[in-house]
Amino acid sequence: MDPSSTLDEVRELALKCTKCGLAQRRNSVVFGEGNPASPLVLVGEGPGDQEDKSGRPFVGAAGKLLDRALLDNGLDRTDVYICNIVKCRACDWRGESAFNRPPTPEEISACSDWLDMQLTAIAPKVILCIGSPSANALIRKGFQITKERGQLMNCKYAKVAIATLHPAYILRQRGQRSDGGYSLLVEDIARAWMHACVD
Ligand code: URA
Repeated sequence: MDPSSTLDEVRELALKCTKCGLAQRRNSVVFGEGNPASPLVLVGEGPGDQEDKSGRPFVGAAGKLLDRALLDNGLDRTDVYICNIVKCRACDWRGESAFNRPPTPEEISACSDWLDMQLTAIAPKVILCIGSPSANALIRKGFQITKERGQLMNCKYAKVAIATLHPAYILRQRGQRSDGGYSLLVEDIARAWMHACVD
């Protein structure tokens, strides 16, 4: 089976999804992008404002930091595939203003069939979970990102999964005397890519 044609079919269906309330006020279903033949898939939490507007994952400030960390490993978005556990922006509305919030367990569960079909179609060697909601969904509940990041973990969709710090967390943590964990993100991408590139 050609994995990309299956992925196209899944995308087409996902773009029409109304399985949860996030469908009501979204601008885009942010399905995912990159190289579906890549041995490495990066999975984040869910789209924010910029991603909802553009329909592309990780294009805001956190995405720019992720691009930099990929580049520090000699990689770009054509080398990997990037998606999220939830495909629509999770936010609360007050009048016409939207405020980002984490997706609820119900929203994560409503979206899990899309992620399941997407990862099954791509069948990567390695999954890099970006942040703890992704690690909780794909590695195990209760995953402790600061203690367990960078370690090789089991995952049903890949030979191995590794979790790393979310770039949005790094942006919040970093200060004059700390890189906020950026070097760990670069290190974890290197590790994930190394395992993705060996047989
Ligand atoms: N944060 C995520 O987890 N995913 C995105 O696509 C953007 C920001």
